[in-house]
Amino acid sequence: MDVISQIKQNARRQPQTIVLPESYDDRMLLAAGRIAGEGLARIVLLGDPESLLNRAETVGADLSRVTLLAPAASALLQDYAEELADLRKHKGLTVGEACKQLLALDQLHFAAMMVRKGDADGAVAGAFNSTGDVLRAALQVVGTAPGIRTVSSVMLMVTPRPELGENGTLLFADCVVNPRPDAQALAEIAVTTARSCRSLLGVEARAAMLSFSTMGSADHEEVRRVRQAVQIARSLAPELLIDGEMQLDAAIVPQVASQKAPGSPVAGRANTLIFPDLNAGNIGYKLTERIAGAQAAGLMVQGLARPFNDMSRGCTVEDIVSTVAMTAVQSLG
Ligand code: ACO
Repeated sequence: MDVISQIKQNARRQPQTIVLPESYDDRMLLAAGRIAGEGLARIVLLGDPESLLNRAETVGADLSRVTLLAPAASALLQDYAEELADLRKHKGLTVGEACKQLLALDQLHFAAMMVRKGDADGAVAGAFNSTGDVLRAALQVVGTAPGIRTVSSVMLMVTPRPELGENGTLLFADCVVNPRPDAQALAEIAVTTARSCRSLLGVEARAAMLSFSTMGSADHEEVRRVRQAVQIARSLAPELLIDGEMQLDAAIVPQVASQKAPGSPVAGRANTLIFPDLNAGNIGYKLTERIAGAQAAGLMVQGLARPFNDMSRGCTVEDIVSTVAMTAVQSLG
């Protein structure tokens, strides 16, 4: 069974409640109907029920098993506004302003507040809104998990090469959130991603911290940042297999690993790739997708107190369905 089918199977075992704020995008309506129909999650769609049902009929989405919730008419609104104002009081937010933010047309903050308060187990957005806007709502409202300072992202890459990673599947991080993490943040990204590997793939991570240098072959400020991150990651989570710094070929090609990084428990067989910055990570996943023919099967934001995941604006209905399944599995822990 492929990795996405496996994730869907896990999601179905204990259906979670996932809120979709972007009901103004037809792909979300279609995905909501499919997810509820397939029993992957209980879906809450934000928006005016009558308008949603009319639009659903036009586009052929079946919302009969979906909960429709209008933020403006919700009994939750006042409580949410008070909590949001309290949460953002260091930025001077009043209850009135918080209420306006919760009723904004994008509905991102209302969804984030549902997740924060446990009224939903997770949220998925980004089909319409930019990554920055989705992440900001998640960071500001949901906040970080205990003990985590750096929220980051992990991309599940399914390659046509079974000899790579776990039967062709690898985790890439961070491809979306942190433009240039310092050594501490990079170490946290490595640790969080290694833990995501266990929850998503059900196997221990072999995490390679990538660089243009392998085990001291070059010396530069950027290499030293990665090397320092390896040390910090090991002290944060000594039980995890995290090694570096190493070049990409040393990470995934056994012959190169035996020359450049002999004795490394990760080199040559990495299933988790930690990129040194967002330029490398974002370009790296798109190269693998567009030139190597891999499938970018799902993006997960990690390190939040509860899941709020982002999609690419070019996403398909199937991408939304898979991301909701991943979000549900992430919520199960
Ligand atoms: N981890 C934890 N907290 C964070 C992080 C992080 N990585 N980044 C920001 N925060 C905190 C901030 O300190 C801030 O706290 P405060 O409001 O209490 O002071 C809060 O979260 C909100 O942050 P803002 O200051 O409003 O947002 P910021 O300007 O820092 O932007 C963002 C954060 C949106 C994640 C930014 O780093 C960004 O734009 N990243 C790149 C996104 C992107 O465009 N990715 C590539 C394309 S997407 C694709 O290819 C699929």
